[in-house]
Amino acid sequence: MPQTICICGAGTMGSGIAQVAAQSGFQTILFDLNKEVIENAKSKNEKDLQRLVEKNKINSTEKENILNRFHFTNNINDCKADIIIEAIIEKIEAKTNLFNQLSLINSAETIFATNTSSLSVTDIAKTILHPERMIGMHFFNPATIMKLVEVVNTNFTNEKTTQIIIALAKQFGKTPVLCKDAAGFIVNHVARPYYLEALRLVEQGIADFETIDALMEATGFKMGPFKLMDLIGNDINYAVSCSVYEAMKKPERLKPSPIQEERVKKNELGKKTGKGYYFYPLPLKGNK
Ligand SMILES: NC(=O)c1ccc[n+]([C@@H]2O[C@H](COP(=O)([O-])OP(=O)(O)OC[C@H]3O[C@@H](n4cnc5c(N)ncnc54)[C@H](O)[C@@H]3O)[C@@H](O)[C@H]2O)c1
Repeated sequence: MPQTICICGAGTMGSGIAQVAAQSGFQTILFDLNKEVIENAKSKNEKDLQRLVEKNKINSTEKENILNRFHFTNNINDCKADIIIEAIIEKIEAKTNLFNQLSLINSAETIFATNTSSLSVTDIAKTILHPERMIGMHFFNPATIMKLVEVVNTNFTNEKTTQIIIALAKQFGKTPVLCKDAAGFIVNHVARPYYLEALRLVEQGIADFETIDALMEATGFKMGPFKLMDLIGNDINYAVSCSVYEAMKKPERLKPSPIQEERVKKNELGKKTGKGYYFYPLPLKGNK
């Protein structure tokens, strides 16, 4: 039975996944290269747990116990665990480098899971030291709330790894869905046109983004495409658009939009940078 989970990358997804792990009773290591990101994740997790206390979902002793299960770090040598869940930038070289470094300091039993949204898990597995212990574990945003987890096997993944990750997702209170390693898996494959068609309407001057969001929400979608892209992160969404487009052999209908590229160039990444299509308040530094 796994006891220690290490999450690499403490951004939008990593901080949420870590909270889920700590709340589910696991010793939880949260690692990021960036000191400020770790500080922000720490104060976000504390705030989120305090909110749960205020809503009577947990009591203050439980909150303290959950916080005590966390180890926040900028030191990769602390990343020793039964299961590693990687949630760093959507770049294959960064992910494979990280997994290969982690293989050297972890046991021969450690499982390596990637939260990639769109990169080929097989391509990552091919270049790491232990492909049989590599799997996709794709959470949705916000990870503390969304129930679905896509579990992505490759041809190298052994059965034990798959079963442990399915069991882990259930221990996290999630609903695991096993799927094949394909461009965008299931959800990002189905959802890609939601963003791209909306971007085309703006590109062609047919409607502005606020109108499109308002209209989609009025027809029953929980979030309009532009609000959703800001929540996801425009850099991540653009990277996913590019890799699905490449993997599908560049169909015109899935061509990434220049608007996405422009947002990324301007660092208008959405909620995480305070500006995307909309404006967002950023956490004050050191503010708990
Ligand atoms: N944002 C979403 O809605 C969403 C949903 C599901 C999956 N994902 C996937 O999760 C992963 C992370 O996305 P995110 O939105 O959390 O990104 P993010 O930009 O919010 O965070 C990424 C973090 O990784 C850190 N990092 C970069 N290289 C690192 C390294 N070598 N070692 C340790 N930390 C490193 C960065 O400092 C940053 O804090 C991506 O693969 C993305 O495709 C994202």
